Amino acid sequence: MLKSGSIKRVRKLIGEQKAKGHTIGLVPTMGAFHKGHLSLIEKAAKECDFVVVSIFVNPAQFAPTEDYHIYPRDLNRDCRLAEESGTDLVFAPSAETIYPNGYSTYMEIGEIANILEGKVRPSHFRGVTTIVAKLFNIVQPDKAYFGQKDAQQLAIITKMVRELNYPIKVIPCPIVRDENGIALSSRHKYLTPPQMKKAIGIYISLKEGVKLIRSGISDFGSVRSLIIDMLNKYGLKRIDYVSFNKWDSLEPALKPDGKVLISLAVKLGNTRLIDNIIINPDTGL
Ligand code: PAF
Repeated sequence: MLKSGSIKRVRKLIGEQKAKGHTIGLVPTMGAFHKGHLSLIEKAAKECDFVVVSIFVNPAQFAPTEDYHIYPRDLNRDCRLAEESGTDLVFAPSAETIYPNGYSTYMEIGEIANILEGKVRPSHFRGVTTIVAKLFNIVQPDKAYFGQKDAQQLAIITKMVRELNYPIKVIPCPIVRDENGIALSSRHKYLTPPQMKKAIGIYISLKEGVKLIRSGISDFGSVRSLIIDMLNKYGLKRIDYVSFNKWDSLEPALKPDGKVLISLAVKLGNTRLIDNIIINPDTGL
C-alpha cells in the first residue's frame, strides 16, 4: 500500500493508474477507523481497480467549541487496517497542505445544510462540502463511498455532485451496527459503559417508529412523540431532534409518501450521537 501527504505525488500516482485505464474509488475519512469505515473500503475494493482512502481530520467542519483537538487520531493503526481492507493508497495530508495560510474559498450549500445537524452545527456542512470538493478535485475518482450513518451528509454530497456536475458516482453504504444495534461511531471512544448502555435505546426507538408506521399510523407527529417516549425510557432525555424528511431532498415529511428518512440526534454527556433509518412506507421496505 502506498501512503502520501503530498497532493502532487497523489496526483502523479493516480494519473499513472488512470493511464492504465483503471477505475478509481475514493473513501473520504477522518480516520479512527471502525468496522463502518472498513466496510466502505472493502466495498470500494470490490468495485474499483484502485482504492484511495483519505485520512484527514478536517478543521473546517468543527466549530471552535467542538472536539477537533481531541478527535481520536491513530494514523499507524488506520493505515494497517486500510491496507488489510484493500486500500491501494492512503492520502493523509497536513492541515497546512489543505488549508494553506490565507485560505478563504468555501462552498455555499443552501437550506439543506441549515436543517437537522446543520441547525445545531451551523458551519459543519460548509466545511464538509469544502473538503469533499477538494478531495474530488485532487483524486478525481470514478466512485466515492459514503456511509448512510451521516445521512444528511450523504444527501448533501449527492446534491453537490449533481449540481456541480462532478463525473463521480456517489455510492451510499449501509450503517454498520454493533451486537446491540448501536451504529458504530469514532466518538464512542468518549462514552462510559453506562452511557453505551443507554445508547442501545437509540436504534430500538427508531425501529419502534418504523413498526408504528408499518402498522398503519400515518401521522408522523404521533410517531415522533412515541419515539421520544421510548428514548426517555432508556434514559435518553437530551434529544436535539427526531425528524421525518423526504429522502433525499430532506424536505419535511408529514405522512408516508415515498422514501422517508427518520433521523435523530441525542446527547450523552458531551457527546452527540446520531442515527437514522430510511424507509419506504409505500412499498413496506
Ligand atoms: O464523514 C466523515 O468522516 C467526514 O465528514 C468526511 C466526509 C470525511 C469529510 O471530512
